[in-house]
Amino acid sequence: MSGLSIDRISMRFDLPNGSSVQALKDVSLDLAAGELLSVLGPSGCGKTTLLNIVAGFLAPTSGKIQMNGHAVTGPGAERGMVFQQGALFEWMDVRDNVSFGPRMAGKRERHWAEHVDHLLDVVGLRDFKAKAVYELSGGMQQRVALARCLANDPDVILMDEPLGALDALTREKMQSLVLKLWKETGKTVILITHSVEEALLLGERLLVMAPRPGRIHREYRLPFADLGVAEDLRAVKKHPDFARTREEILGMIWDMEEEIMGRTETTQ
Ligand SMILES: Nc1ncnc2c1ncn2[C@@H]1O[C@H](COP(=O)(O)OP(=O)(O)OP(=O)(O)O)[C@@H](O)[C@H]1O
Ligand SMILES: [Mg+2]
Repeated sequence: MSGLSIDRISMRFDLPNGSSVQALKDVSLDLAAGELLSVLGPSGCGKTTLLNIVAGFLAPTSGKIQMNGHAVTGPGAERGMVFQQGALFEWMDVRDNVSFGPRMAGKRERHWAEHVDHLLDVVGLRDFKAKAVYELSGGMQQRVALARCLANDPDVILMDEPLGALDALTREKMQSLVLKLWKETGKTVILITHSVEEALLLGERLLVMAPRPGRIHREYRLPFADLGVAEDLRAVKKHPDFARTREEILGMIWDMEEEIMGRTETTQ
């Protein structure tokens, strides 16, 4: 079976003081190859935990997870991760960062050079390949991170707030780039974001998670990612359904936050 299958995943963190946190409870999800899923939810609802379990960095307390029909038991090259920021190798130039995966896999330069140059072109950094990481802007660094992930040719790209640290304009350009890469490469993508607009623009599927315990609250199937491949993202945002769904989700998350605050106040 191709794609990702998450079957009743639960995750409990046992703390040194004897208490525990139920970070995820009974989360099930099937993602077909080539789908783009965005994940939203209040802080602490288990988004990063879920992504870390899919990446194989964490083993769930219970439940099963399969990738292309094989059980996930640890990290693997078919699942690539793009972090929020700061995950580049500062001591390497741009091209060495992007070619890191193929080089670590023992591939000769002639086998990866063309692909790496193509990826640098796609993310608009051909003229920057000899630059050091510290010479790049935040947006450029995230484009290097995307190209580095793609150089490993993963089936699934996992992104935890990849655009969260960028200014509004750069973020918008990066959103278009993510959509373009998704359509061109046909990769499966899971993207965590705190921005409802971003989740709507990029997710053909959108998951709203709820906290305590972390679980799936609501799932949407949306037309905006497909529209955004062809249209300007600003035009997509003017779609009446876009505004309506954004308000619905904002209200949903607002209510969850209120509930958390209320609970915290009464337990103090
Ligand atoms: N290693 C850990 N040890 C103990 N508790 C943890 C650990 N990792 C996460 N948690 C707890 O699990 C819950 C979910 O955390 P997680 O980081 O997945 O949330 P999140 O949805 O990504 O939040 P945010 O939006 O703030 O990034 C939180 O209550 C957190 O405190
Ligand atoms: Mg997180």
